Amino acid sequence: MLEQKILDIKKQAIEEIGKAADSKKLFDLKVKYLGRKSEFTEILKGLKDLAVEEKRKIGQLANEVKKEIEQELDKAERNLRAKSFDLSKEKIDITIPGHKKKIGHLNILTQTQNEIEDLFTSMGFEIADGPEVELEYYNFDALNMPKDHPARDMWDTYWIKGKSNKEGIVLRTHTSPVQMRYMEKHQPPLMIIVPGKCFRREATDAKHEHTFYQFEALVVGKDINIGNFKYVGEQFFSKFFKKDIKVRLRPSYFPFTEPSFEFDISCTVCGGKGCRTCENIGWLEIGGCGMVNQAVFEAAGYKRNAWQGFAWGFGIERLAMMKYKISEIRLFNSGDLRFIKQF
Ligand code: FA5
Repeated sequence: MLEQKILDIKKQAIEEIGKAADSKKLFDLKVKYLGRKSEFTEILKGLKDLAVEEKRKIGQLANEVKKEIEQELDKAERNLRAKSFDLSKEKIDITIPGHKKKIGHLNILTQTQNEIEDLFTSMGFEIADGPEVELEYYNFDALNMPKDHPARDMWDTYWIKGKSNKEGIVLRTHTSPVQMRYMEKHQPPLMIIVPGKCFRREATDAKHEHTFYQFEALVVGKDINIGNFKYVGEQFFSKFFKKDIKVRLRPSYFPFTEPSFEFDISCTVCGGKGCRTCENIGWLEIGGCGMVNQAVFEAAGYKRNAWQGFAWGFGIERLAMMKYKISEIRLFNSGDLRFIKQF
C-alpha cells in the first residue's frame, strides 16, 4: 500500500512538473513534493516503524522516486530557460559607445600627505599617529604649558564638554601632543613624522581654516643639533618642490622648544630674488620649529640633558598651496568638484 502511495506521488509530481509554466511554479512544486512538510517526507519519516525487510524495500523505492522527481525538476528548469532565451534580444552591438564609469581619486591633500610620508620614510623616518580628540595634558601641560600659561593663547582652542580624570578635553590644536605620546612609549634614538588633522577656533580666511593638517617631525638622539635639522629640511623641501631650496631660521618662541624658530624656505617661484609670491622678500614662511625643550623630555620620562632633539610643525595645506599655486585654503574642504578634479 505504501509502495502504491509512493508511485502515485511520483505520477502526480511528474504530471504537474510537466505543466509548470515558470521557475516560480517549479520551485513551489519542489517544496510541495520534496519539502520538509511534504507527504513524501512524512513517508520517509515513518520508515523507522516498518519491519526490516519492508523498510529496506520501501526505503530504496522512496530514494529512487526522490531522485526521479529531482531530475524531472532539473529537466523542466533547463527547458524553461532554453525557451526563454531569445537570441535576437541577446545580441550586443559593440559599435554603441560605452558608458564610462566615473571613479573618484585621492584628494590633493591626501596626495600631498602621501608624498610627504614617502619622502620621509625614504630618509628612515617612521610615521606616528595620535588622537584628534586629545587630553588637555598632552596638548598643553606636557608641552611645558601648565594651566594659566599665557602661551596657551597662541592656540584658539575648541574645548569638549566633560572631563576625563578631572582633565579638560580638546580638539588638538597641533600635532605636537603626539611627540609626547610617542616618547612615553619609545626610547631614543628616534625619527618620526606625524601627519594629522588639527583644529583651531579661529576666523577663517584665505590662509586659515578651522580644520587643517599639520605634519610634525621629531628627531631625538645623543648629539642632534640645528645643523642636522637644517639639512633634513633642505633635503625634504628640495625633493618636494623638485628644485634647490634653501632654509633659514628666524628666532621665535614656543614653550616646547628652546631655542625656537620660524622656518622659512627660499621662494619656490623666484628662488630668492623676490617676486609677487614672496612679496619681494625672497623667502616663504613654512612653520614653527626648534630644539626640543629639556622640560618636554623630562615630562616624557627621559633624563634631563641626556638627549638632544629637534621638532617642527608645518601646515600641509600651506605646502600644497605653494606647490600647486592654490590661493585659497578653504577650497580644500569646499567639496567643489571644479577644484577637486584639477589634481
Ligand atoms: C604650532 O602649531 C607648533 N606646534 C609647531 C611646532 C612644532 C613648533 C614643533 C616647534 C616644534 P603654529 O601655530 O605656528 O605652530 O602652526 C604651525 C603651522 O601650522 C603654521 O605655520 C601653518 O602652516 C599651519 N597652520 C597653523 N594654523 C593654521 C590654520 N588655521 N589653517 C591652516 N594652517 C595652519
